[in-house]
Amino acid sequence: MTYINNKNKTEFCLNGQQKNFIEKLKKAVESKMPPDLYIHSISTLDYAGKLANIHVNKSTSLKNSNQLFYKLCISCILHDYGKIFLPLDLVKTAEREKIKLSKFEFACEPLLHGFLAPYLIKRDFGIKDPYILNAVKYHTTGSCKMNMVDKILYISDKIEETRNYENVDYLRSLSGKNINLCLLEVYKSNIIYLITKNKFLHPDTNKIWNNILGGIKNGTR
Ligand SMILES: [Fe+2]
Repeated sequence: MTYINNKNKTEFCLNGQQKNFIEKLKKAVESKMPPDLYIHSISTLDYAGKLANIHVNKSTSLKNSNQLFYKLCISCILHDYGKIFLPLDLVKTAEREKIKLSKFEFACEPLLHGFLAPYLIKRDFGIKDPYILNAVKYHTTGSCKMNMVDKILYISDKIEETRNYENVDYLRSLSGKNINLCLLEVYKSNIIYLITKNKFLHPDTNKIWNNILGGIKNGTR
């Protein structure tokens, strides 16, 4: 993946220790994940790298943008780590560890891997950074307060290059131009998909949608 930040003509300068850790993580997940899930994880990482080059960040210092980029890389590699566990095992883990989940979240299998991810990646990889834990926790549902790492992971997960669905090219083209509008469109596309397939919507969906929409209208995020 590229480390060049084209917009500022600067580079994301990960230090040797950070680069080593990322390579170590990639190898670790490769050995644990089925090949298609590993390819998706790395493809999410690559796409997030492209978006980071564009959107991170005119407003923060290079040091801060390097930190954000590092956190983003780790979040991408590990965001679907919870999928290597059976849903029943995730439920048992949540009960045993007293992880706070609503009744809906306990019962909704497709969401469990995200909501359990903070516990799992802390336990198995020693990750404690709240930015990373938050990004992986909400990468499936989104949340009301999404920072740049959350947004890029959420979007990259849905439109990375191996994804193939009707409006994905439109979403990809938008992702390079307007990250907030892209977030809204990806979120919308996800809601439409879930409704079309008669799948449950998380009870917070309305709140999150309004928040993303409100942010765009106010120009605040
Ligand atoms: Fe994913």
